[in-house]
Amino acid sequence: MKIAIASDHAGFNLKEELKNFISGLGYEIRDYGANNAESSDYPDFGFEVAKVISSKDFKFGILICGTGIGMSIVANKVMGVRAAVCESIESAKYSRLHNDANILCLGARIVTIENAKEITKIFLETEFEGGRHSKRIQKIHQLTGI
Ligand code: RB5
Repeated sequence: MKIAIASDHAGFNLKEELKNFISGLGYEIRDYGANNAESSDYPDFGFEVAKVISSKDFKFGILICGTGIGMSIVANKVMGVRAAVCESIESAKYSRLHNDANILCLGARIVTIENAKEITKIFLETEFEGGRHSKRIQKIHQLTGI
């Protein structure tokens, strides 16, 4: 399974940690920057990953900024993207089960590295439940046009 990852400066260190962790789980990972911890703008990186999720070139994206919020705002403006900020294992699990989230947004200033690893693992390993939730997902895209 192919996973796209990106961060701004605030998420750079966590991104580097997660890349190793995700590769260790056996997934293919592609890094869309940032390439260092110098100040940068999260929309530049979030938009790049959102596009490759929208085009279905990658199954999942992971976006990291200080809070995860800025990344989620930009990603959710791209067609077909369902980006979820997750600060717990529970929210990661339900973002997949009920929302079929395709981008996980993490806040490097909010979660610990160990927490982020657990959240990421659950996110990648949990399947969408379908059923009654499918209709609701369809409505999100129908009603918003994105
Ligand atoms: C950068 O300081 C910070 O604003 C950014 O990483 C992010 O948290 C925005 O949502």
